[in-house]
Amino acid sequence: MPVIEIEHLTKDYGHNRGIFDISFSINKGEVYGFLGPNGAGKTTTIRHIMGFSRPQQGHTLVNGLNSWERASDIQRELGYLPGEIALPEALTGTQFIKMMAELRGITDMTHTQALIKKFELDPSGSLKRMSLGMKRKLAIVTAFMHDPAVLVLDEPTSGLDPMMQALFIDFIKEEKEKGKTILLSSHIFSEIDATCDKISIIKDGRLISSFVANDLRHNEIKTFKLEFKSEEAFNGFNVDVNAQQEIEVLSLSPHKHQAIVSINDNQINRFISFISDYDLKFFSEKKFTLEDYFMKFYDRSSNATGGAQPNAIHRN
Ligand SMILES: Nc1ncnc2c1ncn2[C@@H]1O[C@H](COP(=O)(O)OP(=O)(O)OP(=O)(O)O)[C@@H](O)[C@H]1O
Ligand SMILES: [Mg+2]
Repeated sequence: MPVIEIEHLTKDYGHNRGIFDISFSINKGEVYGFLGPNGAGKTTTIRHIMGFSRPQQGHTLVNGLNSWERASDIQRELGYLPGEIALPEALTGTQFIKMMAELRGITDMTHTQALIKKFELDPSGSLKRMSLGMKRKLAIVTAFMHDPAVLVLDEPTSGLDPMMQALFIDFIKEEKEKGKTILLSSHIFSEIDATCDKISIIKDGRLISSFVANDLRHNEIKTFKLEFKSEEAFNGFNVDVNAQQEIEVLSLSPHKHQAIVSINDNQINRFISFISDYDLKFFSEKKFTLEDYFMKFYDRSSNATGGAQPNAIHRN
């Protein structure tokens, strides 16, 4: 049984806003990246998982429990880091931590103290005057203080300085080692790349891609840029390449005598033998990275649904 299951989740706010028919699931021990541009629907989905919002259609389950029906159990057990942190301004950080500890029935504060130290949090000041980064650290400490097995983190590092972001990434890796199940929404590519096993991308309230991160890291399709020494060599290549089934021409720049092609990794020897018949100035591999893949979805002018799509995750 998956730890987190989202099935056909829909919340229509009107005017094409909201989330529509979202389905994905997270197994025990997985770190699951949830990506998408501003307003895509990440926070809305996450709030349903936490039981703060009632679905119009579909449902979310955590360890088999319906989020909406069992909201208080879920909110007590899960580690949750909200995207927009709203803290009671009248309290100091220390008072807030104490309040959260009581709520969760924590009596031994050793783990909490270790987190405070790790993230260099000074909780003594009033929440009203705390900087954004300090509030984020406080939210991290309270999300992890009861050592939860399941964590739902909505842009956990926004507002943290680069050192703290790096520290947080290491911390997530350690938690993963301990077998924690983590949903992580983020805009920060390096954070997702360093931590996630699986990734879903949401855009305009719809899930447009779900995949295993390693499939993309070990993408077998390679892209090469070629430049020929003469027009004659370029033209010769351009005609003959049509008969080469394994080579896909992605673009041509005749005036520069350049071509961009893609081939499967296992055809590399045939490819090199083919192009060596033409007078080449250079050829170089253009790395297609996870980051290139993500950037396509942030491009508002594009309707990308993932051209070089790695194997999609099949739901069971
Ligand atoms: N309570 C609400 N009432 C009406 N519309 C809402 C409500 N909550 C969210 N929306 C709309 O739903 C869409 C998704 O918002 P959401 O906050 O889930 O996006 P997000 O992916 O978390 O974005 P960001 O990266 O900016 O945090 C947006 O168009 C937003 O304006
Ligand atoms: Mg959000």
